[in-house]
Amino acid sequence: MKIELKYFTGTGNSLKILKTCGEIFAESVNTISISEISRNETVLPGSDLIGFCFPVYAFGIPRICNKYLREITRFKEQQKVFVLITAGALDEAGLAITECKRILKKKNCEIIYSDVIQMPINWTTSPKPPYPPSKEEAIEIINQGVYKTQKIARNILSGVKKHHNFNYPKKYSEIKFYWNYYMFKYLGIQNMWRLFRVYSSCNGCQLCAKICPTNSIRINNKKPFWSKTCEQCMRCVNFCPTESIYQMQGGNTIGKNKYREPSFKPKERKTLYK
Ligand SMILES: Cc1cc2nc3c(=O)[nH]c(=O)nc-3n(C[C@H](O)[C@H](O)[C@H](O)COP(=O)(O)O)c2cc1C
Ligand code: SF4
Ligand code: SF4
Repeated sequence: MKIELKYFTGTGNSLKILKTCGEIFAESVNTISISEISRNETVLPGSDLIGFCFPVYAFGIPRICNKYLREITRFKEQQKVFVLITAGALDEAGLAITECKRILKKKNCEIIYSDVIQMPINWTTSPKPPYPPSKEEAIEIINQGVYKTQKIARNILSGVKKHHNFNYPKKYSEIKFYWNYYMFKYLGIQNMWRLFRVYSSCNGCQLCAKICPTNSIRINNKKPFWSKTCEQCMRCVNFCPTESIYQMQGGNTIGKNKYREPSFKPKERKTLYK
């Protein structure tokens, strides 16, 4: 049996979840590959099973994940897939799974399993709470997420089928939910890169530009500048060694917990634009 695992991650949660699946699968499956989604990849290698794991951003999946799924070449034979979404709160995954399912069905995929896994919130520049938890709280949430994922992976291997059902978040009315979803999808995410700024503590180390998964930061005169391909993944904010990155209009980060999954080591790009 051959299993292909694909992820997008800002701060490591979604990778942690797929790695956990990989560890359980490895107990009885001999070929497992795990890799980040890539802009140029339109044909996925034939596998017995493909697993996707993405974070939820304001009740949907990141634009880069939506685009990636839409650009995959339709499978000739029906392809079994599973979809896992990491979310800061279990009832706030919104339409993330629905979005994936709608696209994947058009690609001749049979979705055999879908679920949401709660992981620590990484949205440090969110204009309102909840903000990222403390290190101790985060470890507790991660351990529970990993435990749930181990059970999911065993279920998948033994052929149990399960589908996550969409629900409105408890604290949102139907109207407020759709308002947030569409505002973020069609207005927010495309413009929030404009709000990024640095405090005077920024020392020009360039780490933010080197680790951005979408290559959206340029360094000019030892200061970072953001561009429109930014996904709001929060990697730059949470990895900046001097905690210098914030957003205007309510996204200040002074005194807030920063979050990244402790085992996550993002790759550093070597070549940078001036
Ligand atoms: C811009 C942004 C929006 C988010 N929106 C939601 C949301 O609507 N619901 C939710 O439960 N979590 C939300 N989160 C939290 C993330 O989904 C969660 O922390 C996720 O596990 C991060 O995964 P990653 O480390 O793989 O990037 C949001 C995070 C960011 C950065
Ligand atoms: S990682 Fe932080 S300190 Fe380094 S250049 Fe970026 S904002 Fe400045
Ligand atoms: S600029 Fe920052 S928030 Fe935007 S995609 Fe890159 S690392 Fe993520």
